[in-house]
Amino acid sequence: MTDTTPTLQGSLYNASQAADKLLSGGVVVFPTETVYGLGACIRFAEAVARIYEIKGRPTFNPLICHISAMEQLDELVQSVPDSARRLMDAFWPGPLTLVLDKRDSVNPIVTGGLDQVAVRWPKHPIAQKMISEVGHPVAAPSANVSGRLSPTRLEHAWLQLGSLVDGYVEGGVAEAGLESTVIGWENDQPVLLRLGALEVETIEKCLGHKIQTPASDKIKSPGQLLKHYSPLKPIEWEKPRASTDDGECVLLTLQELPTDRARYQSVHALSQRGDLRSAASQFFEVLHRLDDSSARKIIARPLPPQGLGNAMNDRLHRAILSSQSAHR
Ligand code: TXA
Ligand code: MG
Repeated sequence: MTDTTPTLQGSLYNASQAADKLLSGGVVVFPTETVYGLGACIRFAEAVARIYEIKGRPTFNPLICHISAMEQLDELVQSVPDSARRLMDAFWPGPLTLVLDKRDSVNPIVTGGLDQVAVRWPKHPIAQKMISEVGHPVAAPSANVSGRLSPTRLEHAWLQLGSLVDGYVEGGVAEAGLESTVIGWENDQPVLLRLGALEVETIEKCLGHKIQTPASDKIKSPGQLLKHYSPLKPIEWEKPRASTDDGECVLLTLQELPTDRARYQSVHALSQRGDLRSAASQFFEVLHRLDDSSARKIIARPLPPQGLGNAMNDRLHRAILSSQSAHR
């Protein structure tokens, strides 16, 4: 008897095979420099619909379209504000997503019915090769079940999605380890829709001014309204005073302090040097690992409130909100 149990090994594609699969209406997991994505060619509405189904994602939460050449931008958007052009020149390819007015021809399934479309040009060479061979934008959310931790390694995606998708492309450990920063426009002014792998301070330096958060609810990123990025284990912020429970908990922190070992079952420092970029690249990886550990609870110590520290704190905050409602 042959064993027909699906294996990750048996579902691996290279970039060209993945492009062929996408061009026949399939969905594949592929690497980017931020996190792994679950992609479909935007020309195949049924394949895009399958992404929502596979992830258990509400259809009002739109997807990012990934491009590999400026010409593909024309397939998606009507016009590009000057400030958006400046950001594209400075940061594409890279971990920055821009939300712009969409063309009528873009299927509303991609944008969750909104008039704007999110666009990103990823830096990962395998993603670029795959999208180039598709020749059209590839719609892709992060390759996790809705609400769960984002995958920074192929195995993370495989463990959550298994044989629900048509194939997987290996691309190593995601370099940035956090999702892209998302910027939209409100009254011609750039607004921050999601903190992410490109520091807000860096974007502000390029623009020459501060970026606001959106004033109107209408243009807020629907994904930001949802609780998100959750481990399955309970997670909470560190309390100032030690408690007897602490001995059964693991601490997630940027750097370990001398008293931490005596207080917690174990301590996980994201970067003993205190380097936020290196911490961000480890962030989801460590959360996946802590989720699988024997600890009863994950205790999170806030990261320094700057740059990528803010992006990680934002994800921890959402994970903690989710945990509070799940473990009440
Ligand atoms: O780094 C990333 O951005 C990864 C990789 C795969 O590119 N993708 C990713 O996608 O994180 P996802 O779907 O997990 O998050 C996309 C975010 C959501 O918060 C969504 O609401 C927002 O972008 N978004 C997408 N389209 C939008 C639109 N038209 N208007 C406002 N927000 C939008
Ligand atoms: Mg996501």
